[in-house]
Amino acid sequence: MDGKSRLFITVEGGEGCGKTTLMDKLVEAIAAKGLSVMKTREPGGCALSEHVREWVLRPDLDFTIGNRAELFLFLAARAQQVEELIAPALDEGKVVICDRWNDSSVAYQGYGRGLDPKEVREVCLRATDGLEPTLTFFLDVEPNVGLVRSKGIAKEYAKEGQGDRVEEETEAFHERVRRGFMAIAAEEPDRLYTLDASQNQDAVFDEAWRIVDAKLRSMKML
Ligand code: TYD
Repeated sequence: MDGKSRLFITVEGGEGCGKTTLMDKLVEAIAAKGLSVMKTREPGGCALSEHVREWVLRPDLDFTIGNRAELFLFLAARAQQVEELIAPALDEGKVVICDRWNDSSVAYQGYGRGLDPKEVREVCLRATDGLEPTLTFFLDVEPNVGLVRSKGIAKEYAKEGQGDRVEEETEAFHERVRRGFMAIAAEEPDRLYTLDASQNQDAVFDEAWRIVDAKLRSMKML
C-alpha cells in the first residue's frame, strides 16, 4: 500500500431493483465533494469484458453455456477488468463504483444455478486477485416486482419486452438468487448493506449516501 485510501463500492441486487439510478446519484454526490470517481459495470468495462458480456447475456445464442462455463466466463471478464481498469483507478486514488461484483456470481451461479456458493466465492477471489469491495449495497426487491419493472427497460441484446439470458430464468431461480444475496448479507454485515428497493428512489439514495459519506469521512477522504 502506498498510503492512498482505496474506496471500492459495488451495487448488487436482482432484476429491476434500481441499481442504475442509485449508481448515477452516488457518482454525482461523490463528484460534488470534489473526489474523482469512476463508474463501471460487470460484466463489462473494457474490450474483452464487453465481448464476454455479449456471449453470456444474449438470449438468442445458438450454442450452449453450461453452469461452470458461465461462471468462468463471468470471471474471465472480471479478471480482465480488475487488471485493466479497476486496480489502476484505485491506485490513482479514484473512488470506483461498480454495477455488480463477486456477490452476483455467488448469488446467481451459486444459489441460482446450484454451484457450491463457497467454491464460487473462492474462485471469484482468485479471479479478482483478492479484490473485494469496501462497501456493497444490496437493493432488495421481491422478484415478481423487479422482473416486471425490468421488462419495461430496453436491454442491449434482447428484443423489446424480453430479458437477457440470465434474466429470462424462472421466478423460482430469481427467488433463490434473492435468498443468496440475503445469506451473504447475513454473513458480512459490515460490508454489505441491504436497502429496501421498494421505497422511492430518493429514499434509497438518502440511506446509501449516509453510509458512503460516513465511510469517506472514516477513511479521511473528506
Ligand atoms: P446487469 O447488467 O446488471 O443487468 P440487469 O439490468 O438485468 O440487472 O446484469 C446482467 C445479468 O447478468 C443479470 O441478469 C445478472 C447476471 N450476472 C450473473 O449471473 N453473474 C454475475 O457474476 C454477474 C456479474 C451478472
